[in-house]
Amino acid sequence: MTNLKLININNQIQDDKKLILKGLLNKKQKYLLSKYFYDEKGSKLFNKITNLKEYYPTNKELGILGNLQKEIRKKLPINSTIVEFGSGSNKKINKFIKSLSEPKEYIPIDISKEYLFENASIIAKKFSDLKVTAICADFSQTNRLNKILKNKKKIVSFFPGSTIGNYLPKNAKKILKNFSKIIGKNSYLVIGVDLIKNKKTIENAYNDKLGVTAKFNKNILNVVNKICNSNFQTKNFDHKAFYNLKKNRIEMHLISKKNFTLKINKKNIKFTKDETIHTENSHKYSKNNFVKLVNKSGFKVLKHFTDKKNYFGVFLLKVK
Ligand code: TRP
Repeated sequence: MTNLKLININNQIQDDKKLILKGLLNKKQKYLLSKYFYDEKGSKLFNKITNLKEYYPTNKELGILGNLQKEIRKKLPINSTIVEFGSGSNKKINKFIKSLSEPKEYIPIDISKEYLFENASIIAKKFSDLKVTAICADFSQTNRLNKILKNKKKIVSFFPGSTIGNYLPKNAKKILKNFSKIIGKNSYLVIGVDLIKNKKTIENAYNDKLGVTAKFNKNILNVVNKICNSNFQTKNFDHKAFYNLKKNRIEMHLISKKNFTLKINKKNIKFTKDETIHTENSHKYSKNNFVKLVNKSGFKVLKHFTDKKNYFGVFLLKVK
């Protein structure tokens, strides 16, 4: 395919080991960074989550994006370069590409190499007039990404799925600031954000009956095993997800079912029964709180859209 180019700038196995060890040796609460969910198997499991009936964010966001097509065409520039942060599956971007008028290039950025390249080639086949440049990277690699995107014009970026909610609010602000620098002045960002709602609906979305979320959560241990040559047994852990009302977030943990010691790089890591590894936060925002965060991060809100039930928000932002 002549319209497809693949770039890999994510070559950080050494850093990954260090980051994983840092989290597992943390005294107060063991943790793992959520980027380690997404090897090929993890990305596929997450795609399964987005099809679950309990997992409302994807359906709500897709519905909103469907209703927005005219608005997007009207407000966003012709011949744009689309940059997608954490691209994952193609469901949403298909809709988004069709909404824009004659986009020139699509640049998906994702940590999960095989999955990214597979999905990028599907898009390149489907939209043969579109140049597709897939970049395997952690999207916090600001400097490298900055260089690649420096000469691109009319950037419209896309950050769906409420991935922004996976950061602590203070880090979410930093990520948005970095995005504003990467895409540059007068560029746009269309971002999806999960909104605060009743606790039960949120908790059900992260505790599905089929157990797909549990599988997804446990798969992070397989990824750690690959990177660190370690020997985590997923069967020794249970999935736990609960809504923390004070912090407006879902917390995902893995609870150890027994006492054991794990070796990584000759370091002994002790686990006691019922101790947890914190694997993910998913913060929920009110419309006003999200607008406040945006205003402090180099963007301004042009418009805000939601579904009938006010479950999910899609915000159209512009770099100030
Ligand atoms: N961005 C997604 C969210 O916060 C990620 C996610 C969905 C997730 N389900 C999960 C992460 C389960 C860990 C475990 O909604």
